[in-house]
Amino acid sequence: MITIKENLHYVGVNDRVKHRFEGLWFLPEGVSYNAYLIVDEKVALIDTVDVGFCPELLDNIRAVIGDRPIDYIVVNHVEPDHSGSLALLRQFYPNVRVVGNKKTFDMLSGYYGITPETGLCVAEGDTLKLGSRTLTFHLAPMLHWPETMVTHVADEGILFSGDAFGCFGALNGAVVDRDMDCTRFWPEMERYYAAILGKFGAPVRTALKKLGGLDIRMICPTHGPVWADQAARAIDTYRRMASGTTEEGLVICYGSMYGHTQRVAEAVAQGAAEAGLKRIIVHNLSVTQPSFVLADIYRYGALAIGGPTYNGGIFPVVEDLLKRLAGREVKGRKMGCFGGFTWTPAAVKVIDEYNAKMGLDMVAPGIEWKQKAGDDTLGQARALGHALAQAVMANATQQ
Ligand code: FEO
Repeated sequence: MITIKENLHYVGVNDRVKHRFEGLWFLPEGVSYNAYLIVDEKVALIDTVDVGFCPELLDNIRAVIGDRPIDYIVVNHVEPDHSGSLALLRQFYPNVRVVGNKKTFDMLSGYYGITPETGLCVAEGDTLKLGSRTLTFHLAPMLHWPETMVTHVADEGILFSGDAFGCFGALNGAVVDRDMDCTRFWPEMERYYAAILGKFGAPVRTALKKLGGLDIRMICPTHGPVWADQAARAIDTYRRMASGTTEEGLVICYGSMYGHTQRVAEAVAQGAAEAGLKRIIVHNLSVTQPSFVLADIYRYGALAIGGPTYNGGIFPVVEDLLKRLAGREVKGRKMGCFGGFTWTPAAVKVIDEYNAKMGLDMVAPGIEWKQKAGDDTLGQARALGHALAQAVMANATQQ
């Protein structure tokens, strides 16, 4: 338990065991599930934690309020990393009232059998007075699920934001940004956005517009640090990522079985460097975890993707990236592609088909070669790198 400010306590936990968040996204430094306890004339718990950490959450709560009961549990987001402890908590606190909106209860009834009759169903702008503090609820659909809402304490400018403004990375001792070195959290915020919220650019922009009308001096998200001194930077990071603004740089993503596609990827990188581009990132998709690749793609304005033909399609790790990109809002990038084959070509065709959904601006036709990537192919790859560099540098100049 850590006190954030008077009668507002952090009661969340660290998960340093899970390898992959949502079973998908690599967690090299763990993740925190944040929950907050407001102690007033009424006691309110804002969000819970993954069910596996319920005993620790209970200990943290009891360290603050002892045997005093909790009056309300506010569910800003039903995803089980935050609602997972609800059913057990209701056994310890049988009279607690769960607070959520209509969509919240649609989900809670299915997951835990919790219906609005036993709780408090709120709508946009509704308030709940706890004593000296009053909570105001604002719906923020698709930030990250349809039921998502945020909870605001207007007098103090505190926003309990759910997943928004959260990031990967466990909390090492301190909870509030001013009490720690936050350097490692900023790239983890971008990786979190790219992995978890990347599909929902338009709803994020809508939510940011709505939140722009609130006094926000402290952000208490469900993952990562509490943003106080750096709340504005957290909001700006989300605004930038949701807007599609990119930096000058090229991300080259490839899969390779026997090294030929890798040689072509290297030639693309060399061509871009010869053209004067300084920021060039190369990811072997058989090695780098997808969330790191996505975070770089979100950051930079040019992208090259390549892979060999495989079983009449494209090499699986490359198709995995293409699927993830097609399901996200990644717009306005300059694009190039390349792919080899041994007897019947397919890779470039598959990339082109995915790009029909992604809608990126191909700066040149895909490079295709049979068997060994010879000098002609490598020359084309350097030319592609050159074209991508020029395109992204021209874009940066226009911006
Ligand atoms: Fe941290 Fe969408 O759950």
